[in-house]
Amino acid sequence: MGAFQGAGRNPRQNQSKRRILVAGGAGFLGSHLCERLLNDGQEVICIDNFSTGRLENLRHLLRFDAFSFVRHDIVEPIDLPIDEIYNLACPASPPHYQADPIHTTKTSVLGSLNLLELAARSNARIFQASTSEVYGDPHVHPQPESYWGNVNPFGPRSCYDEGKRCAEALFHDFHQQYGVQTKIARIFNTYGPHMRADDGRVVSNFIVQALKGDDITIYGDGAQTRSFCYVDDLIEGFVRLMRAPASLDAPVNLGNPGEFTVAELAEKVIALTGSSSKIVYLPLPVDDPRQRRPDISVAKRELNWEPSIQLAYGLKSTIAYFERLLARSAGAFAEVA
Ligand SMILES: NC(=O)c1ccc[n+]([C@@H]2O[C@H](COP(=O)([O-])OP(=O)(O)OC[C@H]3O[C@@H](n4cnc5c(N)ncnc54)[C@H](O)[C@@H]3O)[C@@H](O)[C@H]2O)c1
Repeated sequence: MGAFQGAGRNPRQNQSKRRILVAGGAGFLGSHLCERLLNDGQEVICIDNFSTGRLENLRHLLRFDAFSFVRHDIVEPIDLPIDEIYNLACPASPPHYQADPIHTTKTSVLGSLNLLELAARSNARIFQASTSEVYGDPHVHPQPESYWGNVNPFGPRSCYDEGKRCAEALFHDFHQQYGVQTKIARIFNTYGPHMRADDGRVVSNFIVQALKGDDITIYGDGAQTRSFCYVDDLIEGFVRLMRAPASLDAPVNLGNPGEFTVAELAEKVIALTGSSSKIVYLPLPVDDPRQRRPDISVAKRELNWEPSIQLAYGLKSTIAYFERLLARSAGAFAEVA
């Protein structure tokens, strides 16, 4: 008999205002999700260890009585009365997840385990922010959820890719063994306000370089493709997936199937910022995927979801955010100097 058998009574379950835990809520995606849930009238408890997340991302949420945050590392167990859990906690960009790769693996594996145990004890539905990285450098294009991937288990990206794969397996097993209601989103490249300037992913890199007039660095020949989803579209997908029938427990791709080469993205950013930056080419990092594009048929069919925000609109709003961020940090620097 499983340790959690018999769990299943949650006196809060029938109330319309739900108490929702967002792990990793101070990060890029997490802060947008907290805002969306608060606007939907929910109570939100954000937990975060502030490794890549920032208090700045949450400042505008402090006016909500229904919002609170707790500094906590999900590698350690946590106990809170809760109705739903979104697990977004994990550094997402290669420079950040590779800075302490063992802690990255612990975050995905032990962190997911701790939150799944909390979900089982509380009879709470739980959502996992998985990733297109579970497909590695794919041999199938575009990638449907049924594709098992081509992941290097022994390399600099393995802590992230294998950690996320193991987390999916844990979600599968908690559902099978303890009947926990689980949801898994396989997220493809997403961009928007609240990204860090030093995030290290392609959209923020290009925008920050263009705004500073620095060279725009393309790794490889720029012919590798990516699909870019604007954050508002993605968060809508999260909420729809969480509200979908319990029977939808298998992973669902969420991303924008529009495909652009990295060189095209650089040119768009230069045009939209009016920057004088030049493009320079550097060697491709180890295990960098050549092509990535989601097959979103499942999300379309099951969630009636597909992205609607055009790249040009999303880039403009992200550029405006980085302009404000860079102006603020230049102001802060001027005050100190
Ligand atoms: N942004 C994307 O394009 C993308 C793509 C695929 C998957 N994802 C996944 O979505 C989630 C959010 O990504 P993001 O882009 O917002 O990244 P992010 O780095 O901005 O946010 C991650 C948040 O988790 C927190 N965190 C990290 N380790 C933690 C720990 N052990 N305990 C508590 N908090 C911890 C960080 O401080 C940060 O606030 C991640 O799980 C990531 O793997 C994101």
